[in-house]
Amino acid sequence: MKFFIDTANLNQIKEAHDLGILDGVTTNPSLMAKEGITGEAAITKHYETICNMVNGDISAEVVSVKFDDIIAEGKKLAAIHPNIVVKVPMIKDGVKAIKWFTDNGIATNCTLCFSAGQAILAAKAGAKYISPFIGRIDDTGWDGVQLIEQIVNIYAIQGFETQVLAASIRNSNHIVQCAEAGAHVVTSPLESILGLLKHPLTDIGLAKFLEDAKKMHP
Ligand code: E4P
Repeated sequence: MKFFIDTANLNQIKEAHDLGILDGVTTNPSLMAKEGITGEAAITKHYETICNMVNGDISAEVVSVKFDDIIAEGKKLAAIHPNIVVKVPMIKDGVKAIKWFTDNGIATNCTLCFSAGQAILAAKAGAKYISPFIGRIDDTGWDGVQLIEQIVNIYAIQGFETQVLAASIRNSNHIVQCAEAGAHVVTSPLESILGLLKHPLTDIGLAKFLEDAKKMHP
């Protein structure tokens, strides 16, 4: 399973990258706005910086919703760096655009997926990734991880090559559950990635080892 970080914050990307386990980055307009990135030049520069930090797929999202506009915007994003994956929303024009990008050699990440039916459409259109938002599904009282499992099964049965990229991760346990459900990729906030390190028995065990180690070097 690949590990992506879901942020546009350069310090957090660096911290996850330095851990040695980072395979890529996902961003979205909310995450970019949170970092105060405004204007086309600054947006392009920010994506370039991320691409130069992490050698893996970097999702950059279009903000257009009409086919022609999505194509024009996606082409510009894809031209920034070979590792850019154009993130396209799951809407009618988005599916058409994903097919166009696929036919023209541009990788896509279909975002805002909340059902298996949407995931089937994205795969038919040739998306490289489908991003089911599991935290937002949990927020509505449904089971986000169950959707991951369902899509993974459908893709395996049908032989679709689209990778299931579990998104909208809220905690470390989501990452573990997505791994168990067969997600190909999980994109998480730094906090959830670092949370995987933690266990109280590790802390207690280490404290005791360090204490006993003093006896080894009196
Ligand atoms: C997906 O790629 C999105 O960027 C993200 O995971 C959405 O997460 P949120 O529900 O925490 O905003």
